[in-house]
Amino acid sequence: MTFLISAGPTREPIDPVRYISNRSSGKMGYAIAEAALDMGHDVILISGPTNLAPPRDVKVVSVSTSDEMFQAVHQHAEDSDVCVLCAAVADYKPAQVSPVKIKKRDEGISIELVPTRDILQSLGRQASRKFLLVGFAAETDHLEANATKKLREKNCDIIVANDVRIGMETDENELLILFRNGETKKISRAPKKILARELVKIFSNLQQKGLTKKM
Ligand code: C5P
Repeated sequence: MTFLISAGPTREPIDPVRYISNRSSGKMGYAIAEAALDMGHDVILISGPTNLAPPRDVKVVSVSTSDEMFQAVHQHAEDSDVCVLCAAVADYKPAQVSPVKIKKRDEGISIELVPTRDILQSLGRQASRKFLLVGFAAETDHLEANATKKLREKNCDIIVANDVRIGMETDENELLILFRNGETKKISRAPKKILARELVKIFSNLQQKGLTKKM
């Protein structure tokens, strides 16, 4: 199978030297890429800026902004069997990017922000998609309720939810997996590399079942 995995943060420029971003390390996405590769799958890793070395034999597409990630994901999604959107895409970007460095002044300044395009939702809206669509939900509160809302709104097959207080920037995570049919599965705290193997098994089994059903 071919896995498309998005990972890491995006950077939304304010001016040539400044940007808005978040603390995502990319570790979970890179661990899934490595696990999928180890289990014999082909992997396209669409990565925002991280400090991680991508696993060998993975096709890496490096992007910076949410718009670049949107384009790269759409370019490769059709050729994939499983799309795992693990990236922490910025939800807002500056309405205007200053072409020159904004100078410091004595008074405060405001930056107008506009929503970025939701990549996961845009794939979920494709009526004829053949790939299994997996989203992630990083939450600080009401984990299950927020993740359930995302599963419905973004029309994906699986949402993998985690509490950012456990999983952000760390090597460990604890996951709650929500399936489209209402089933849930909890995986207790473990290294991201171990969790990644579990996830790849779950994703490929489900995709296989889907394919058999269609035949
Ligand atoms: O809504 P929220 O950002 O919490 O949803 C998280 C999920 O949506 C993740 O799978 C993330 O990769 C995806 N997402 C996206 N494009 C955005 C924002 C989030 O694909 N602009």
